[in-house]
Amino acid sequence: MQLIEELQEDHKLIEQVLGSLRAFVTGRLEGRGDPADGIVFMEFFRRFAGEYHHAREEEVLFRALCEQAELPAERGPIAALTGEHRRMGEVLEAMAVLLEDPLTEEEPRGRLQALAVDYSRSLWRHIDAENSVVFPEGQEHLRQHHVRELDARPMTQAEEAAREAGVALVAAYPPVEDRDFNRGDGCIHCPSYGITCDGLEREWWTEQAWEDFEDRMSSD
Ligand SMILES: [Fe+2]
Ligand SMILES: [Fe+2]
Repeated sequence: MQLIEELQEDHKLIEQVLGSLRAFVTGRLEGRGDPADGIVFMEFFRRFAGEYHHAREEEVLFRALCEQAELPAERGPIAALTGEHRRMGEVLEAMAVLLEDPLTEEEPRGRLQALAVDYSRSLWRHIDAENSVVFPEGQEHLRQHHVRELDARPMTQAEEAAREAGVALVAAYPPVEDRDFNRGDGCIHCPSYGITCDGLEREWWTEQAWEDFEDRMSSD
């Protein structure tokens, strides 16, 4: 599905810019880098990641999964990922305030670092959950309901500018690798697993799929 391929392409850039953001914040706290680039990072995440990418997921893909593939909107992966979009947006805005701060006091410095770690780790794992679970499984559910493609609006000029600025940020601030943090495929690494979502099998499998599965297990 073209939309899913495009969303996965977006993820490749977003995950790199997250690594650049971490490099930028560490540099800022050590007096390096251009403070004005803080707003460029915020524009990338607000416009490209938020208004374009997350919005296309919610308004096109997730909506189709609910309305056409009959998956639940109010619980499970769709509710969990939508909730993560909201929470990460709040973390982003808290970070935006601190990026305007002179960062001379200990308290805002520590808070900025913690927010950058929270935002990047949350969004990395969110991306992994989408790539490894919701996109492939969602595509299969849509296929079963004879939906093979979904129409989505093109990027606006402002979103395209934010995307290009993101590419430039990756070049200016080479992404750091977060060595203390594990990423991985499947529900187990998802930030919402066990909190607001019980995982794919419990949330999306139909009773028929469970019965078939149990039949298979008992006949082995
Ligand atoms: Fe998402
Ligand atoms: Fe995404």
